[in-house]
Amino acid sequence: NTDLQVTYTHEEVAFFHLRQTHHFDEFEYPSDQYCKQDLFPKWHLPLKIASIASLLIFIYTFLRDVVHPFVTTNENTFYKIPILVINKVLPVVSITLLALVYLPGILAAGFQLHYGTKYKRFPQWLNGWMLSRKQLGLLSFFFASMHACYSLCYPMRRSYRYKLLNWAYQQVKQKKENAWIEHDVWRMEIYVSLGILGLALLAILAVTSIPSVSHSLTWREFHCIQSKMGYLALLLCTIHALVFAWNKWVDVNQFVWYTPPTFMIAIFLPIIVLLCKSILLLPCLRKKIQKIRCGWDANTEMNKTQMTSRL
Ligand code: HEM
Repeated sequence: NTDLQVTYTHEEVAFFHLRQTHHFDEFEYPSDQYCKQDLFPKWHLPLKIASIASLLIFIYTFLRDVVHPFVTTNENTFYKIPILVINKVLPVVSITLLALVYLPGILAAGFQLHYGTKYKRFPQWLNGWMLSRKQLGLLSFFFASMHACYSLCYPMRRSYRYKLLNWAYQQVKQKKENAWIEHDVWRMEIYVSLGILGLALLAILAVTSIPSVSHSLTWREFHCIQSKMGYLALLLCTIHALVFAWNKWVDVNQFVWYTPPTFMIAIFLPIIVLLCKSILLLPCLRKKIQKIRCGWDANTEMNKTQMTSRL
């Protein structure tokens, strides 16, 4: 089946033969030429973006959740660093990377609408960004999976058990029989469920990006999964974060040192992407983009009308 054939560069074929004939493994070095091969070239930019975003969010959360209580009330919350702080960094980076997967598509649609053609080349930076979408998406899935593991281990922590005991003691002291808060129960049921659904969709997206799987799909099937299901995953994850935030939007205590809480930072880019996508889905714009992508060109149309008016 020609569809399943993968095209290799001359260098890759030569390297494959070299490996077959010489049977070198991790204990042997191939010739100099192959040692100079670039390591994971397509991953450089996405990894840089993920590392810088992780570092910035880590510092931000560390200052808000650990340094602030230490400085203001002398409370020691350094125990939060390994799980609670990390589990704020992971989802924020994950959802931001997911939004970055879909943002270039929107910019590209805007570009095509502006120039009225699909034949004008995208700027180099947009082209490079579009080519990194798969890696950005896989990194987003990786961060989301870690976020799910960290979140699910919350009740196992000793700090959580002590807190639970202390809450129970406070409750007894206040002679309260029932600690059930209906809206908090609903909030958690809904956001955890949405998180699981979002992660499941991201897993499907990750599996279909494996070349052997994507090659077995038609263009339409692949496009349907990667685009429609991708946007659905982004939507579910954004609602997951919004429901997690619930009424914290209006809670002034969330604005530590006048800085916005992390969930606001997390949903900023996804909401912009989802809003732009909904605008592009308006019938007038959608039809125009479809026409442009089918080969319609505003410039040639204009030339044609100018020619006929001159005739
Ligand atoms: C099995 C799946 C998931 C579970 C169990 C889960 C659970 C949680 C929990 C417990 C929190 C609250 C964390 C805290 O208290 O600090 C949370 C927050 C959050 N989650 Fe998830 N989640 C899941 C999947 C996802 C996915 C797939 C995404 C997006 C890619 C995501 C994005 C977020 C965001 C942005 C927040 C807000 C973080 C903050 O600002 O504190 N989650 N999730």
